[in-house]
This record gives sequence, structure tokens and C-alpha cells, in this order.
Amino acid sequence: MSKLELIATTAFGLEAIVARELKNLGYDRLTVENGRITFIADELGICRANMWLRCAERVLVKIGSFKAVTFEELFQQTKALPWENWLSIDSQFPVNGKSIKSKLFSVSDCQAIVKKAIVEKLKETYNCTWFEETGPRYTIEVALLKDIVTLTIDTSGNGLHKRGYRQLTGLAPLKETLAAAMVYLSYWYSDRALIDPFCGTGTIAIEAALIAQNRAPGLKRNFISESWPNIPKDFWREAWQEALDLWQREIPLHIYGSDIDSNALRLARINSTQAGLAEKIHFQRLPVLEVRSRFKYGHLITNPPYGERIGTNENAGKLYKELGKTFKNLETWSLHFLTNQSYPEKLIGRRWDKSRKLFNGRLECHFYQFFGPKPIRN
Ligand SMILES: C[S@@+](CC[C@H](N)C(=O)[O-])C[C@H]1O[C@@H](n2cnc3c(N)ncnc32)[C@H](O)[C@@H]1O
Repeated sequence: MSKLELIATTAFGLEAIVARELKNLGYDRLTVENGRITFIADELGICRANMWLRCAERVLVKIGSFKAVTFEELFQQTKALPWENWLSIDSQFPVNGKSIKSKLFSVSDCQAIVKKAIVEKLKETYNCTWFEETGPRYTIEVALLKDIVTLTIDTSGNGLHKRGYRQLTGLAPLKETLAAAMVYLSYWYSDRALIDPFCGTGTIAIEAALIAQNRAPGLKRNFISESWPNIPKDFWREAWQEALDLWQREIPLHIYGSDIDSNALRLARINSTQAGLAEKIHFQRLPVLEVRSRFKYGHLITNPPYGERIGTNENAGKLYKELGKTFKNLETWSLHFLTNQSYPEKLIGRRWDKSRKLFNGRLECHFYQFFGPKPIRN
């Protein structure tokens, strides 16, 4: 097994949560930067990180990093890296790129130079002049930030938010990685009730159930690096077996989702069935104002409609006031919601206890938290 530098990429604002996920997996040599956490692991780590990270976007292998301000420097230093450790004679290796605040700003030129440098390296390694690229896929990224080049290979394939349960839909659901992060940030424990009163297609409820069952988010999907000869199949089997062993299928859950849109609820039920959670989450057609619970303690975790989507600020105001009323009736509960609505506390009727900036795609939002009293333990 080799010592590798891996990178878990994240949406802005979720770095600390992904760092915590990595620590829980046993990786503690972490470097946390904007949008990425670098950690040291071996090939088994590639399998485990892909299998278990709920809030990261992808897992990349870092091949090298250096400063380059000319194309010649980019070419020579790329060529000097040990590409032959990863790429075989038949590997496909498309090159993606991005450049921020760097002298080499033409991304397409950087991609072409990197491709050429790798081809030259492989020509020397394999004593061959033409590569068919018919084998396993290794998607390379050249990323420049302030003239520092980082070269990586993607091990995930589809983004990690794709868990394998989601129906394709015209609706704009919350990304699974962000929904899972909201549940983590709420400090909800599975012995408490959880309600999403604007559940839409059910993402928060489903992610909460997966967290409660300690079910690895990657259990129902594949990863591009499963097709790589570099990672022994036994490592994938080991990661898969670990995920099966730790899955607590029978844990009792009190998770509820409600919404006024029956089409969204239909999708929520299909999604939860696909996720194997049909019997575990209860979905109901109900306006937010009518949401009640028989449980004394619990968490409302939700993503209400955003102002721009519901037309007027007046409509948005009405909805947040209704959410505030429901929360008031559930006086020993906590409320956590993600929104881009300004000053929602005025509408909720109480000052938030904690707020943090999070991005829903490109949309800057805040995650507001209103904590209820601590449950009395007998
Ligand atoms: C931003 S979406 C939630 C998306 C959801 N998180 C998902 O992953 O699909 C907001 C949802 O609020 C619902 N909604 C709007 N007004 C409502 C009301 N008065 N009561 C309950 N749900 C409402 C909409 O039907 C929509 O599904």
C-alpha cells in the first residue's frame, strides 16, 4: 500500500464538517483550505472516503503541486510527475481545468499543455507513440490558484451527492451533500423526532435516516476508481463489507416530511423507497401551519421556499410567519433552516441562536438555528 495525498473537495462553508467526517474515519493529518481538505491515506482510503463522505463533492488523488508562470514551466513540471504510477498504456485521461488569479489564465491552453506533457511522459514509459485511450478512465484536473498548479485525478466519477436513490425531476431539490450537512449541524440524534415541514422531494428526511442508520452514502452506487487496476478489488470489498457491518438497519426512527405539493410528495415517497426507507419515513400532505407532533422534543430541519421562487416578499413573509407559529406551538423543539431570505428572525418572532453562511449551489444562503431547551434525561 502506498502513502497518498488525497483531496476531498467541498462546497464553500462545509470544510469543517468534511474535516470532521474524515477524522471520524480515522484520517487526522488534514490540511483544510477553502473548498478542499487534503489528507494522507493509502489506496484503501480512496475506497473508504468515497464510500463514507456524506458532505464532500469528490475525492481526488493529488499527483503534484508546483509554481508555474510560463507554459514551459507547466509542461516540464507536469512531465516530471510520476503519471506512470497511475496511467497504463490504454488509460483514458481527459484533462479538465480551472485558473484563478494566475498568470496562466487560459484554461484551454493549460489543459492542452498538461495533456501533451503526460503523453510525452507515457511515450517514454511505454515506448509507444500512440495511445488508443480505450481503458479505464482517469479524469485529470489542472487547477491554478495564484500561480500554484495542482494536478489531481478524480477517483469518484459521478459527484458524491449522487447516492443512487434520487429520481430525475424538473424540481430543484436540495443537494444531498448539503442536506446531510444541515442534519449534522443541527446536532440531531436519532432518538429524537425530526420534521421537515417543507420537505419537497424528501432530501433532508432521507439523508437524516441514512445518518441515523449509520448507512454509508456510497453503498448503493459505483465509483470510477472501481475500474482501476491500481486499487486491488479486495480493498473495495473491504470498504463495502465495513459499510454493511456498520449499517444499523433496525434502529427506530421518528422522521416526518410534509409539504403542500402532492407531486413533490410523490417523488419523496419514490426516493425514500429507492433508498430502502419506505417504512421508515412518514410523508404527509400538510401546510406548514398545521404541523404538530406528539413528541415533546425534536428538530424542525428545513429548506423553506426562497423569496424569488414564491413571487413576492409578502408571500415569503407569510410563509416564514407560519413557520414561526408552528415552531411556537412546538415550544420544546429546535428549528434549523436554510434560506436566502434576509432577517427571517423578524418573521419567526425570535432571534436566532446561531447563523452560518452556506452556499446552495451558487446562491449565498444562511443556515439559521433556534435552539430549544435541553431534554431532561431521566
Ligand atoms: C425549497 S423547496 C424544498 C425542497 C426540498 N428540500 C427538496 O429537497 O426537494 C420548498 C417546498 O416548500 C413547499 N411549500 C410551499 N408552501 C408551503 C406551505 N405553506 N406548507 C408546506 N409546504 C409548502 C413547496 O411545495 C416546496 O416543495
